[in-house]
Amino acid sequence: SAEFWVRHVREAVRFLDGIRWLESRGVTAYLEIGPGGVLSALGQDCQTATGPRAAAFLPALRTGRPETRSLTAAVAGAHVRGLSPDWATRFAGAAARRAELPTYAFQRDLYWPRDPFTDLSEPADGRELGLTDAKFWEVVDSEDLAALAATLGVDGDEPLSGVLPALSAWHRRHRDRDTVGGWRYRVTWKPLTDTEPGPLAGHWLLAIPAGHADDPWAVAAARTLAARGATVNTVTVDAAADDRTALALRITETLAGAPETAAPAGVLSLLALDERPHPEDPALPAGLAATLALVQALGDADVAAPLWAATRGAVSTGRSDRLAGLAQAPLWGLGRTVALELPDRWGGLVDLPPTPDERAAGRLADVLGGLGTEDHLAVRSTGVFVRRLTRAPQEQPPAGEWTTSGTALVTGGTGALGRHVARWLARTGAEHLLLVSRRGPDADGAPEL
Ligand SMILES: NC(=O)c1ccc[n+]([C@@H]2O[C@H](COP(=O)([O-])OP(=O)(O)OC[C@H]3O[C@@H](n4cnc5c(N)ncnc54)[C@H](OP(=O)(O)O)[C@@H]3O)[C@@H](O)[C@H]2O)c1
Repeated sequence: SAEFWVRHVREAVRFLDGIRWLESRGVTAYLEIGPGGVLSALGQDCQTATGPRAAAFLPALRTGRPETRSLTAAVAGAHVRGLSPDWATRFAGAAARRAELPTYAFQRDLYWPRDPFTDLSEPADGRELGLTDAKFWEVVDSEDLAALAATLGVDGDEPLSGVLPALSAWHRRHRDRDTVGGWRYRVTWKPLTDTEPGPLAGHWLLAIPAGHADDPWAVAAARTLAARGATVNTVTVDAAADDRTALALRITETLAGAPETAAPAGVLSLLALDERPHPEDPALPAGLAATLALVQALGDADVAAPLWAATRGAVSTGRSDRLAGLAQAPLWGLGRTVALELPDRWGGLVDLPPTPDERAAGRLADVLGGLGTEDHLAVRSTGVFVRRLTRAPQEQPPAGEWTTSGTALVTGGTGALGRHVARWLARTGAEHLLLVSRRGPDADGAPEL
């Protein structure tokens, strides 16, 4: 009414009193029907209740946000507070259905789709009971009192009241060990079968380290790419002389003179083969530094093609597969980081055997053409192997307590985990602790630590 608005303009609004009065009447939810959330924000400040007892303020519209989303958020906000709207009305005529929510803690159903390439699923049924329980019941089954008493660490004549705490402590200890054992994984290599390679075509860039033009793999890679119908341009990289900028320029120039004007289809880097120490930092293999520069330069030169980084003998696919190129192994760490940070222009990592016979070279071409979604591969004389993470349960308890002496170096030693590690090392007998970080003694809590 006109009178209402006149009063509204001329008299005090008493918003605070209004909210407090509503609160005293047990109102726990407010829906703001208006052009924004101003009153909801004000209302929150006016109520006295806090924490879970505080009322919900739900603006139906928010300035600058899509109306549908704001209204849906308000309705959802009401729903989770037990004020369910009539959902049938909301979705009338729409193809909506109820979905089961993921189960929680007590019902261990896997909700997310299984990744077919990484078998980290729960242990198979045989392990479900846990090694601990199985061993315990084995002892019980044998009805061997002495063995049971020894297992629990109690006297054989102990009454049940004495056995129970021992039993419980034993169970807790072993359950913890089983749990931690379940977090252990190892890398294994599996032969890849039944995967047809994709076609190799278009223009490829081949990056080889300076002084390695005659390397059998440099020769074989260029020849195999060409044999499969790709055109190839080689870029030679000198880790000591070529920085990111120089390299980007070289790539741009090389591509300008390429036979096809289309963007390159792929890049193969053999830069890791340069195992020499980097002249500026001898701890760093030159090939690793050159690969990093190449990754950056390709980005600078706007080359969106996937980069494959090859190593030779940098991984071992099995006991008889010798690690010959240990200095190239760090590339597998760098490669995984690049894969995470620049997934759209990363091809993968491929490890090569010592010599490129025709079959091995052909397998490299298969890898570059694409073998499914595999991006961690090793070419060997017996076939192509792919990297897998598998569970590595701890079958045996540790042989003894871990002890240390002398100085223990903890990198990131002032961080959240570093502190725990440092204290634990001190408890286990480390004579000196060297805690390393950027801020050093200036890190929060470092003096106390
Ligand atoms: N906390 C967890 O629950 C958890 C779980 C799984 C894995 N992690 C991993 O474990 C590692 C440590 O975790 P956190 O929680 O202890 O992390 P944090 O509290 O951030 O500690 C990081 C430590 O590393 C130091 N640091 C960081 N950058 C450095 C650099 N460039 N050079 C030298 N020192 C550097 C930091 O000190 P300054 O800043 O002074 O350099 C600090 O001491 C991280 O890689 C984390 O991802 C943590």
